[in-house]
Amino acid sequence: MNRDARRAPGAIGLRIDGARLLARLRELGRRGALEGGGVCRLALTDADREGRDLVTGWMRELGLEVRIDAIGNVVGTRAGTEAGAPVMMGSHIDTVRTGGLYDGNLGVLAGLEVVETLAAAGIRTRRPLAVAFFTNEEGARFAPDMMGSLVFQGDLPLEAALATRGIDGATVGGELERIGYAGAAPVGAAVNPVHAYVELHVEQGPVLELEGVAIGAVEGVQGISWTEFTVTGTSNHAGTTPTRLRHDAGFLAGSVIRFARELALELGGDQVATVGFLELGPNLVNVIPNHARFTVDLRNTDAETLREAEARLFTFVDELAAAEGVRVGRRTLARFEPVAFAPEMVARVERIAAALGHSVRRLPSGAGHDAQILARMCPAGMIFVPSAGGISHNIREHTEPGDLEAGANVLLHTVLELAGLPSQSF
Ligand code: GLV
Ligand code: MN
Ligand code: MN
Repeated sequence: MNRDARRAPGAIGLRIDGARLLARLRELGRRGALEGGGVCRLALTDADREGRDLVTGWMRELGLEVRIDAIGNVVGTRAGTEAGAPVMMGSHIDTVRTGGLYDGNLGVLAGLEVVETLAAAGIRTRRPLAVAFFTNEEGARFAPDMMGSLVFQGDLPLEAALATRGIDGATVGGELERIGYAGAAPVGAAVNPVHAYVELHVEQGPVLELEGVAIGAVEGVQGISWTEFTVTGTSNHAGTTPTRLRHDAGFLAGSVIRFARELALELGGDQVATVGFLELGPNLVNVIPNHARFTVDLRNTDAETLREAEARLFTFVDELAAAEGVRVGRRTLARFEPVAFAPEMVARVERIAAALGHSVRRLPSGAGHDAQILARMCPAGMIFVPSAGGISHNIREHTEPGDLEAGANVLLHTVLELAGLPSQSF
């Protein structure tokens, strides 16, 4: 900590208030709460609006200047002693249908906790600080995931995002208007310069807990490939149609579920493959399905192997469709190359975690995050804290209060170092 002490005099002993952070996490968790725990705040639903209203209200109470942009991203800024691009903290507050209290929410509410801690200590940083939550990070209702950060950064045109239709037929633009979050602030990296971005997040995997390590310094994010397949066959009587005469859309879908597992095992390493969405039609006990729609989520830290996985999946589907006599349409829902975070950001998180007395290790992220998009416009880094049982996207998602607090303190000191104090020169 000596080096930090020289760089951030007066702030060295500063710590966030873990109880206050937990109280906010629980309060936000009441918006869209599910029976038995967990939350459902799919992007741009009424529950998402309630969560947004709550967090935006907290931003205003903390004196942040709140800007809502045209894709519904919300950025609260605290002025520095000097003007310029802010050091940004953030994440998302939308969840999957079976979400927990921490995925995304932790990064946003820990950002508010950092701001409140600094305000209580009378500390103003040189650079402005910002806390952001990005629209539709999860992609569970509208694809692609990381939609808000992609538009914020500029690689996804606003019009295309607004026109996106979700799993329930609603459009992003229509839902933004409906919930009152179609803001006026412009999007794009040119009008939203960010000095650096730091995202605290739960690991959502088992590594930190298994190894008894408190903090993860995230090196990067694995590549993500999401494809939707729509299969058209012939529905017919389940009792009278001989197997050799069937054109069974369900058979193709079921075969892909099995193939995906085999592919992951065969490619080995980090490769994973998931069929997470499946619909059959007419979906009746005695009718051969003439319709199937399903998604395949492929991920790998290695770009080349991910491409190979995609190629093998597509070949399998095409060959089986020809043999079964069904038609298949294919649509890319999301495609992200693996991302490596700026080495100096990884090293900074690692050093600060150790200086604060926490065990720390480097690791890649298996989940997608807004930080991987922000990394296209500024140095970005991530801090992970353990997930109990490695469980996430599940209402049982849990992180121990002490781990949440440790992660938020690493966030605080990482941000302090990046934003600097008035007595320092950058
Ligand atoms: C989104 O957070 C994902 O990793 O699926
Ligand atoms: Mn997340
Ligand atoms: Mn998630």
